[in-house]
Amino acid sequence: ILSLAGEELLLLAELKPGRPHQFDWKSSCETWSIAFSPDGSWFAWSQGHCIIKLIPWPLEEQFIPKGFEAKNRSSKNETKGQGSPKEKMLDCGQIVWGVAFSPWPSPPSKRLWAHHHPQVPDISCLVLATGLNDGQIKIWEVQTGLLLLNLSGHQDVVRDLSFTPSGSLILVSASRDKTLRIWDLNKHSKQIQVLLGHLQWVYCCSISPDCSMLCSAAEEKSVFLWSMRSYTLIRKLEGHQSNVVSCDFSPNSALLVTASYDTNVIMWDPYTRERLRSLHHTQVDPAMDDSDVHVSSLRSVCFSPEGLYLATVADDRLLRIWALELKTPIAFAPVTNGLCCCTFFPHGGVIATEIRDGHVQFWTAPRVLSSLKHLCRKALRSFLTTYQVLHPHIQDFLSNATACVSL
Ligand SMILES: *[C@@H]1O[C@H](CO)[C@@H](O)[C@H](O)[C@H]1NC(C)=O
Ligand SMILES: *[C@@H]1O[C@H](CO)[C@@H](O)[C@H](O)[C@H]1NC(C)=O
Ligand SMILES: *[C@@H]1O[C@H](CO)[C@@H](O)[C@H](O)[C@H]1NC(C)=O
Repeated sequence: ILSLAGEELLLLAELKPGRPHQFDWKSSCETWSIAFSPDGSWFAWSQGHCIIKLIPWPLEEQFIPKGFEAKNRSSKNETKGQGSPKEKMLDCGQIVWGVAFSPWPSPPSKRLWAHHHPQVPDISCLVLATGLNDGQIKIWEVQTGLLLLNLSGHQDVVRDLSFTPSGSLILVSASRDKTLRIWDLNKHSKQIQVLLGHLQWVYCCSISPDCSMLCSAAEEKSVFLWSMRSYTLIRKLEGHQSNVVSCDFSPNSALLVTASYDTNVIMWDPYTRERLRSLHHTQVDPAMDDSDVHVSSLRSVCFSPEGLYLATVADDRLLRIWALELKTPIAFAPVTNGLCCCTFFPHGGVIATEIRDGHVQFWTAPRVLSSLKHLCRKALRSFLTTYQVLHPHIQDFLSNATACVSL
């Protein structure tokens, strides 16, 4: 690999779809998605064939291996001790495109449950939403694997889902019907708003951690920012040269990153539309020099939970980790097949990626961490000389970041 400085990430574990042969015909039109629950106790894996697997986390007792040797784990039924959470299979009946977890505070859930499932004594505390090929959204109770609710309204594939991080049970869905819809699961799962404005299929949506803003991107170059208070368009962000496929807010909501087929990630100040930084994904493997293919088209971008790093996955089969202030990746992992998404474990230390054949890989970078801290200290010092640091949001970000780095 040329010009790819940085450390190589280590493969920690792998999930392999145990594919029933009779369903092979479906796999070509499957799109994959993964998510960790906000409390880090569950991992949801769209493994193909309309099936979501809910896996308790950590994967195994000896999850963090001593030697960090590559490990795989079959997706077969694993027997665990009595009382510990067990793997669940959710049959969604439709191809699954998006998944999102939310905590479900007990009082409303108790009432809803008492109504729908009087036979189940336990209190629900975590739900999973699944966005389906037929435009439906299904809400599942994680502990039991029970289907709680069906949300109908979209006229086409529900491509992405995002819950308010506050646990207020407001769900946003993004669809190929060119709309986003806002659902309130407290109020009998009422659809409370339809967001119109995109002219093409909506690919992704992300709610800021402070629950004030919603970012959406479609098969278009513009990124849309919406108010989560009034559910109206605040502004459009212009800068990408091709379709935008992924977006994520920093943990303090001060920064927004968007990833595009144009091979760039742009970091924005969502309040001013200012483009703070652009991360260009240059092709690094000459063996993949195929001018017909946009080998560095991006698929996914996400912030690390402490907000210091970004992970990106691109069509050149690399997972890259970036320190916010550096222009080249500081760590990477080569993957054997096309990647479609990445997500950090909410307490840090692990990144999950899903490959286009349904495999999930978990990466860890223990050796990188000390040098990451070092690089960030350096980067932050140089960053302090720019005028941008005077911006209150950057001030806020820097104080958080510096606090993290000095840990
Ligand atoms: C791990 O994967 C290899 C090949 O990918 C396979 O031969 C081996 O049996 C797997 N081990 C376990 C424990 O599943
Ligand atoms: C799956 O696990 C359960 C216990 O959790 C066990 O009763 C069942 O027989 C297992 N099924 C298979 C196919 O191993
Ligand atoms: C949801 O819809 C399915 C059919 O698509 C139906 O079987 C199920 O009972 C519904 N569940 C609820 C909770 O409404």
